Amino acid sequence: MGNRVYIFDTTLRDGEQSPGVSLNVQEKLEIARQLARLGVDIIEAGFPIVSRGDFESVKIISQKVKGPVIAALARTADQDVDAAWEALKKAETPRIHTFIATSPIHMQYKLQKNPDEVIEAAVHAVKRARGYVEDVEFSCEDGSRSEMEFLCRIVTAVIEAGATTINIPDTVGYSTPEEYAAIIRTLREKVPNSDRARFSVHCHNDLGLAVANSLAAIEAGAEQVECAVNGIGERAGNASLEEIVMALYTRRMVYQKETGINYGEIYRTSRMISTLTGMPIQPNKAIVGKNAFSHESGIHQDGVLKERTTYEIMNPQLIGLFHNNLVLGKHSGRHAFRERLQELGFELNDDELNRAFNLFKALADRKKQITSHDIEAIIKEELGAIPEKYRLDYLHFFSGSKVVPTATVGLFDGETVIEEASIGDGPVDAALKAVDRITQLNTVLNEYSLNAITGGKDALGEVTVRVQFNDRFFIGRGVSTDVIEASVKAYIDAVNKVAYELEKNGNSFPKVETKE
Ligand code: KIV
Ligand code: ZN
Repeated sequence: MGNRVYIFDTTLRDGEQSPGVSLNVQEKLEIARQLARLGVDIIEAGFPIVSRGDFESVKIISQKVKGPVIAALARTADQDVDAAWEALKKAETPRIHTFIATSPIHMQYKLQKNPDEVIEAAVHAVKRARGYVEDVEFSCEDGSRSEMEFLCRIVTAVIEAGATTINIPDTVGYSTPEEYAAIIRTLREKVPNSDRARFSVHCHNDLGLAVANSLAAIEAGAEQVECAVNGIGERAGNASLEEIVMALYTRRMVYQKETGINYGEIYRTSRMISTLTGMPIQPNKAIVGKNAFSHESGIHQDGVLKERTTYEIMNPQLIGLFHNNLVLGKHSGRHAFRERLQELGFELNDDELNRAFNLFKALADRKKQITSHDIEAIIKEELGAIPEKYRLDYLHFFSGSKVVPTATVGLFDGETVIEEASIGDGPVDAALKAVDRITQLNTVLNEYSLNAITGGKDALGEVTVRVQFNDRFFIGRGVSTDVIEASVKAYIDAVNKVAYELEKNGNSFPKVETKE
């Protein structure tokens, strides 16, 4: 058994299946680029048959992101496998990942197929995929609740058909570490051709055991682990990438395994995923939570000041967490700004750089000291950009404890500035109602969160909103030193995404397609 563990990142596929998350193509490409910088071995870029957006994202990521293997998911049907290949074919190293359920409950009720029919479908899909690519992964969906004897039969058959990676998901997060490790160990021992494939694990977190199960399976011989940044994914999510890689690293004397991860990119990647998906990170989240490295009690603070390792088992700097480092100010020029962006890992084209530099200058007029976190925030605002149907031209609001909150908003629609005013329950409510009057879209504000990017009274406020339009959700972000302005910008960002989708589809909103 080698000592390398391959990191298969499914943030863009299973992670994107998190309720309410919906990333556009540009955002997915940006995430894929960051995952490549993070050093993951495989990026599962999407499920091409499911929607045009997924297909386009896999296609663009395949064309533009070099380094990691790019994988696309497919059920066993011919159209699925063909769509996966169509989307992947420009990738440097493509992988088709096909799957079918193997547990009695899924075969009987969901698939309505008997075990022989399931093996036949799996073998057929693997052979079809091998007709396109060398690298084919096969997953036994609900593998942890499947009968061992059947698992051995189907795994033997798909390896014979050409599968090069065998994944055994704990699809419903039901397994315990001992049970799950035993499945992997048994397959490796009992499947006669097991030496011809790499074994992989994919754990969901319904019982909070996803990371423990993944690590137990690695000890039992799994060589690939499927995970998502910040642990996002269906229901309670997937095993968290940062927790797995930091456990393998911090306890390397126990696991004796290596990954290809660039640890210094972990924190930045986590923040990017949180911002773009609109899914906040709980403060006590291991590795990347706001409190993961802060010490509250006097005894702990005293210990850390004397010797960091008294209460810190990991160095926060290893994951790229530098405390609020001062970077640029009002007099910094374009050159310094570009250099700092490069250090932060952003690659912007000239047009993006110009827009970002203008935002930076505007911010520098309002805020004395600009930190790397501030810069990340304005860049992310810029990168998510899709064509702007509306741009905030001006905003006035009037609020207080004994007045009716009122707001006036001017939105530039490319030709003129349209003005509306409204009252509301508070200044944010009033301003968003004024925006609604202008756009005339029936959008509903579903979620709202406000974060201070850095400390200090002039801190940047970052607002993330989730807006519902028909049965689709759109995430919007806005950043400003004024939180009401940040709120309006975030709302307009989401509304622009709605408008963009409407225009792309000739004004008829696409019917939502179900994800597996
Ligand atoms: O959880 C699961 O079973 C999956 C498979 C499609 C790999 O996501
Ligand atoms: Zn899954």
